[in-house]
Amino acid sequence: MKEILENARKLMKGYCRVCPVCDGRACAGEVPGMGGLGTASAFKANLAALAAYRFNMRLVHDVKKPQIRTTILGKSLSLPVLAAPIGGVSFNMGGGVSEAAYIEALIQGSLAKGTLGCTGDGVPEFIHQTGFQAIQAAGGMGIPFIKPWEDDELFDKLERAQATGADIIGMDLDAAGLVTLRKMGRPVSPKSVTELKRIRAAVSGKFILKGVMTVADALLAAEAGVDAIVVSNHGGRVLDFARGAARCCRRSTRR
Ligand SMILES: Cc1cc2nc3c(=O)[nH]c(=O)nc-3n(C[C@H](O)[C@H](O)[C@H](O)COP(=O)(O)O)c2cc1C
Repeated sequence: MKEILENARKLMKGYCRVCPVCDGRACAGEVPGMGGLGTASAFKANLAALAAYRFNMRLVHDVKKPQIRTTILGKSLSLPVLAAPIGGVSFNMGGGVSEAAYIEALIQGSLAKGTLGCTGDGVPEFIHQTGFQAIQAAGGMGIPFIKPWEDDELFDKLERAQATGADIIGMDLDAAGLVTLRKMGRPVSPKSVTELKRIRAAVSGKFILKGVMTVADALLAAEAGVDAIVVSNHGGRVLDFARGAARCCRRSTRR
């Protein structure tokens, strides 16, 4: 781990401080970059919400070797984890690793461990292009996430995403309000159920909506026909003071 952390510090060039605990403090406000927006309270809330989970110790049973293999959207995965879509490696991480090297490592590394990697999207064309190429090279074994662009651009990208061979496509609605896109003159906005239905109809495989943080939005997503949601606040990079993602999964909202 020492060697890995030292190497990460070198490659991340200060964009990520590689802190002992990734808690959003050192990089607060660094979007673009690796931090959370503004005070990074939403980034910190993500960490706190996850850390608030505790395991139940169940020891009276006959399971000697725990089995964590699972099936998600028809894909058999060796563990219930997908690698999140990350785009803009050059301007978010300082360019110590190229977009292509990062995406290839993510897609191939995920496959090598029996799961799937997701790829991101952004204003510069090379972000989604690099992701599409890596998924195509892997025979469609990856999940491309497209930003909620307007009109033709969105439908064109969805079509090209499907041409990679991927049969699961995602859209990160949690990018609505992302300052990085606004700085580049291309902000994106929320989508209505009617718009989501049109988008859903343009995808022949499964469709994931990323950025659902309330029960109300989850119900609307279901109404629009999406197959799965990702509960996420985009790493606290969009809305300061948003709730921590893992907190939204709790049955009781009192805690
Ligand atoms: C540098 C950086 C770039 C990101 N790029 C994308 C992207 O292109 N598409 C996307 O859907 N999410 C993107 N995200 C958000 C992550 O996929 C993810 O939502 C975030 O790290 C928080 O994890 P969680 O969603 O599991 O809570 C990015 C996050 C970071 C830190």
